[in-house]
Amino acid sequence: MTRIIKNTRIAVSEILKGNVIGLPTETVYGLGADALNPDAVIKIFEVKRRPRFNPLIVHVHSAFEFEKYAKDIPGDVYKIAEKFSPGPVTFILKKKNIIPDIVTAGLDTVAIRIPDHPLFLKVLKNLGRPVAAPSANIFGRISPTNADDVFKELNGKINYILDGGRSKVGIESTIISFLNNKITILRPGFVTAAEIENITGKTVISRKNTGKILSPGMLKSHYAPVKPLYITTDTYFEGRKEILGAGILDLMKYNNLNTAVSKLFSALRKLDEKDYDFIIAIKVPDTGIGVAINDRLERASKGTVRIETDLLKFKYKKK
Ligand code: TXA
Ligand code: MG
Repeated sequence: MTRIIKNTRIAVSEILKGNVIGLPTETVYGLGADALNPDAVIKIFEVKRRPRFNPLIVHVHSAFEFEKYAKDIPGDVYKIAEKFSPGPVTFILKKKNIIPDIVTAGLDTVAIRIPDHPLFLKVLKNLGRPVAAPSANIFGRISPTNADDVFKELNGKINYILDGGRSKVGIESTIISFLNNKITILRPGFVTAAEIENITGKTVISRKNTGKILSPGMLKSHYAPVKPLYITTDTYFEGRKEILGAGILDLMKYNNLNTAVSKLFSALRKLDEKDYDFIIAIKVPDTGIGVAINDRLERASKGTVRIETDLLKFKYKKK
């Protein structure tokens, strides 16, 4: 049985024991373990059923920690960290040997971020060690944004979940690579390419533009509910709650994209728990944080639907 706790001291001692634990961050909940202890990190992969080739993010409490674990850090990293860390950005940097290979799936780079959550930061400071943590969901599923959702995903598989309330951002961090003297966004998130360009004064490449999969974790079919999810851009679906056995996710009903993104994963989970045969999500405008929302919807979906006739087709194919 998994216990939901609020005491960071229990969390620290659990991590020091080499166990994995649910931890709150501002983006989504993480499944954390001592990043310097390979036996503990292996447990993350086992609990999540995550393939070993998919590397983990290392969480630290301050930008002063970066150089303990990474080398040749470009100045732009500190410029961005100054503005957005703690916060929803992850830096891909050249790794130092102190980081075990299991964390980085054998890559010579490491992903580092400073989570913006008071409880997680307290754990990191008191632990005095970095914490490796992917999102706290079973591999391929929707990332949890509160302690109860972690409980539903992982009850019985871990001893504790540290409850830090609802994740206020609601979508995973923006992953930025600085390799080969280029700034590349490998996973869109709350911090946008335009914001990074403003700070650095440099052109930022987006993964979508390159068309190549640069990060092993950028797999298709990710962030998916149990029920089939389809996406649409058809205005026909706007303002509807359900149609022909499908629950509809209409994020535009929240009046801005920041609120929409904070509800994205919890709304998907709720639709998943209802009696619908499948889910249809309406895409949002592809600007600002909308890029990250559409990225997650696309990767969670089985395809695109247009109008009612498509729906009927899916319904009858299913039976
Ligand atoms: O907001 C977040 O980033 C959350 C919270 C818990 O911090 N974490 C998260 O972790 O989303 P995860 O494991 O679900 O996604 C991490 C992504 C994966 O797609 C992985 O492939 C990529 O980061 N990644 C990790 N290390 C990398 C590296 N060295 N090079 C390229 N991609 C890397
Ligand atoms: Mg994940």
